[in-house]
Amino acid sequence: MQGLCPFHSERTPSFTVFPSSRTFKCFGCGAGGDVITFVMKAENVDYREALEKLASRAGIVIPEDDRYSNNSIKRRRVLDMNREAAKFFHRELMASSEALAYLEKRRLSMSLINHFGLGFAPNSFVKLTDALRSSGYTSEEMTEGFLCGISKKTGRPYDYFRNRIMFPIIDVSGEVIAFGGRVMDDSSPKYLNSSDTPAFKKSRSLYALNFAKNACSEQLILCEGYMDVIALHGAGFTNAVATLGTAITPEHARLMKRYTQKVIISYDSDDAGQRAADRAFALLGEAGLETKILRVENAKDPDEYIKKFGKSAFEKLLSGSRSRFDFQYDSIKAKNDIKTTDGKVKAASEIGEVISRVYSNVERDIYIRRISEDLGVPYESMRADVERRMRKNAASEKKEERRQILRKTEGFADSVNPDAVRNKRAAGAEEALLGILLAYPELIKEYKNSPFFLKPDEFFTSFGRRIYEAVTEENDAPFDIGVLNEKFTPDEMGRISAMIAARCDLTKNDLAAAEEYAAIIRDEHSKSLGLEELIQAKRNKLKK
Ligand code: CTP
Ligand code: MN
Repeated sequence: MQGLCPFHSERTPSFTVFPSSRTFKCFGCGAGGDVITFVMKAENVDYREALEKLASRAGIVIPEDDRYSNNSIKRRRVLDMNREAAKFFHRELMASSEALAYLEKRRLSMSLINHFGLGFAPNSFVKLTDALRSSGYTSEEMTEGFLCGISKKTGRPYDYFRNRIMFPIIDVSGEVIAFGGRVMDDSSPKYLNSSDTPAFKKSRSLYALNFAKNACSEQLILCEGYMDVIALHGAGFTNAVATLGTAITPEHARLMKRYTQKVIISYDSDDAGQRAADRAFALLGEAGLETKILRVENAKDPDEYIKKFGKSAFEKLLSGSRSRFDFQYDSIKAKNDIKTTDGKVKAASEIGEVISRVYSNVERDIYIRRISEDLGVPYESMRADVERRMRKNAASEKKEERRQILRKTEGFADSVNPDAVRNKRAAGAEEALLGILLAYPELIKEYKNSPFFLKPDEFFTSFGRRIYEAVTEENDAPFDIGVLNEKFTPDEMGRISAMIAARCDLTKNDLAAAEEYAAIIRDEHSKSLGLEELIQAKRNKLKK
């Protein structure tokens, strides 16, 4: 079974599910593993949480076991602490005439302030920290949740957000997962944001999605800033969201795709904003979202636009927002004189390239029809041209993917198994031996009695050694690959399932094959021993 990989952007499927082994593998990005790895990666949760999600879907209750629950407890603590901090900030805002005056100047109504739970971090190094401590939170929890820093001088915790308007970031289940804080003047940095914590991952969180998710059946509006989102919601565009001080990621795109089919990008009107909009456009398109860019004129961002021209003007922009495609087609037509044959051919070829990169079949066909009519080119030849270009693009994408994987596995950027470069022959034999034992666990027992049975110490790479230890561990129950999920990260699991897949393609997978690879590993040891002895001998000679 093949399909488009949810873990990287691709147009041709390389994500494969192997029903017999109940595993998956993407030959594009290298992700792989079993259903637990899948949930860990897709939903960005740890082993225990993935297990819990799957179990609850199947109606199974997992008994408590503190070996696993550490992370989910941490997460829960941070969430509770954040909620308390949000209440603290809100109380402080209500008590600060200066902060309230700032928000009033920015024309935020009281009901908007309450709706978004805005707050104020007082100009104090201890106020929040003290309040949280008296509620039983430790300094460690406060730093982990990014609410306080630790003073280098005194070693004591201090409030991280000070003298700032506070924007709580709330996820779709209503949890306060993080904060952004803005200064009230021109000082810098303008915003401080929580870094990633056990409860928050910036690259997959969107501001105001908790509200927008209920209003985005038609489309989402993607903005750059907190203030844009709040102004849009205030004006009734409750389908606006923003990334959190970071460029948009494929994870953001996937998140949006869960809720809508169509995204209107409404970034700042300056050059930087428009460049960012172009990147967002490409990324969202690759995720299969229908995407348009809306550029506000005579205002720096949507917030300012609405204040200057009102909500009906923005509404008009929205409904009239021309598609990106129309923009591109117009500029191609402006460049080429389509009254001449030459210009027409050039225009057709340029726009053909643009169409070939459109994700949706339906959309592509609509464009081909429109262009062939507009330029007077036969529909069939226009379509053939686009399809040829699509095949070419796909081929070069695959080539690039393969190149990247090769680079990864050749050890250049081998973050999973960094030791592999030091002895490629040994590392290769280790992977092969492990692949056999993992794919054919019934061989493990026999192999343990073989004269070629290796001690874990004999492995060259520490990654290989860790797998080997798990596989050969004394255990009454037969080995089950599922146990690896708790010991290895999803990236590591990807490499492990690649080892298995590599063996499954081969026919020679018996004890003799395992012994052969074990022998290679031993052989490499004697070689490197030999080398060391040689060096030692030379040293001794020099000494004399
Ligand atoms: N941002 C940030 N750190 C900064 C500046 C900006 O994290 N030093 C992020 C914030 O999430 C901000 C977004 O980038 O909301 C957009 O920046 P900007 O347009 O400067 O902020 P606005 O939200 O428009 O705020 P304001 O209108 O108050 O200037
Ligand atoms: Mn702004």
